Amino acid sequence: MLPGNGLPNTFSIIDKAHHSKRRRIFAYGFSEAALKSYEKVIQGHIDKFCQVLTKNADSEGWGQIVDMSKTCTGFALDTLGALAFSETFGALDGDKNSEYIFSAIVSAGRSMGVLIHLPIFGRSNFLFGMRWLFQRLILPLEDIKNIQNYLSLVAATAKRRRDREDTQARGIEKENSPEKDIFHYILRAKDPVSGEPFTPEELSAEARACIFAGTDTTSSTLAATLYWLSSAPEAFAKLQAELHSVFTSEDDIHTGSKLNSCLYLRRVVEEVLRISGPVGGILWREATKDHVIEGYRLPRGAEAGVAIYAIHHNPRYFPDPHVFNPDRWDDSIVGAQSVAIAKSAWMPFLTGPRSCIGRSLALMEIHLTIARIVFSYEMKMDESRLADLQVTVDDGYREFETKDQLAAETIGPFLQFRKSNREIC
Ligand code: HEM
Repeated sequence: MLPGNGLPNTFSIIDKAHHSKRRRIFAYGFSEAALKSYEKVIQGHIDKFCQVLTKNADSEGWGQIVDMSKTCTGFALDTLGALAFSETFGALDGDKNSEYIFSAIVSAGRSMGVLIHLPIFGRSNFLFGMRWLFQRLILPLEDIKNIQNYLSLVAATAKRRRDREDTQARGIEKENSPEKDIFHYILRAKDPVSGEPFTPEELSAEARACIFAGTDTTSSTLAATLYWLSSAPEAFAKLQAELHSVFTSEDDIHTGSKLNSCLYLRRVVEEVLRISGPVGGILWREATKDHVIEGYRLPRGAEAGVAIYAIHHNPRYFPDPHVFNPDRWDDSIVGAQSVAIAKSAWMPFLTGPRSCIGRSLALMEIHLTIARIVFSYEMKMDESRLADLQVTVDDGYREFETKDQLAAETIGPFLQFRKSNREIC
């Protein structure tokens, strides 16, 4: 249930048949062909992101200290704006107007993080209509205003995009070729079963889903990856060595067989999604019939769920679960059986018909971004701020804190970057 104008979207629809229909149309925006056309946009935003990293460099080439949670949010938001509507929100350019968006994203996450655990709001139309009142109890007025302004901005951007597609489709605008963004694909798509396209209202609702579901998740994964790599120099060095052995310059880093051959890169990202996955909480499901699970009766209509964080930290599947260890995904080191057990329990994107529709897009963006940064830069952490961003867990282990607000709310890490000598461009 997302804060918004009340219209459900793919993420929040409860009815199974309705959800399947919406998902079938939405899926056109995430097909293999669509993903191919997105890479150039992602690469352009990685260029901008990298420029921020060495801004105001000192005499030794170290850029200013960067709050990676904030910068990664700006990057993910602008990239998604460009991918969805061919428009960015100006967050990476430091556009002052985009400042409120950062707090709107955090506040919306906080409110969703509470509402999602109160399914009663989804059951009663009256209470659903009253959720703004409830939100007022948990959020300051300023935050609610920010969320409303942000939702209006997303709706207006989606409408502009729809209008452009209309003029292009009717041949009025001949000069520009159609923008190959997510909206391009879903505006032209029809449900293969019913033959119906999205209505304008459904499109607005999906625009909200796309931005909310795709921004925080991608950005906190990037921030967490940079946290773990800067805390584990041996993992950073191993990844950098792999990238330097595969690519000759940063221009060489794009999707395809070379990137696919970077197995350590994939293991690092898999491990980050396990230990600091952005959706760590319980995603409630309603039992549609009576069940008995390990002796416990779960009657029809009951809500049940297990926090993904708990599954990802269960030592039965992941020995030493609080240790960041990309090698746990390498069967030549830990054995095929251990990797198979770990894979069976790894579900940062969930599984089944409600699993993440943006999985391949998110992984493409994360792999390209991390590959580029680690290929081209050295980095160091501002350790004076560590207490702000870490949490102490079992047995005194420290993890990067991912506060469960449906997606994760994170702080930092605070990092400095310097171009490494290896860079050839
Ligand atoms: C690392 C990045 C990401 C992670 C870990 C992630 C994780 C998830 C999870 C766990 C769900 C299931 C939620 C539930 O059932 O309650 C989900 C659903 C969804 N995600 Fe993602 N996500 C990521 C990135 C993205 C991106 C980039 C997009 C879009 C651009 C996206 C769009 C969606 C949508 C639309 C749904 C609802 C799917 C449905 O119900 O059919 N996600 N995601």
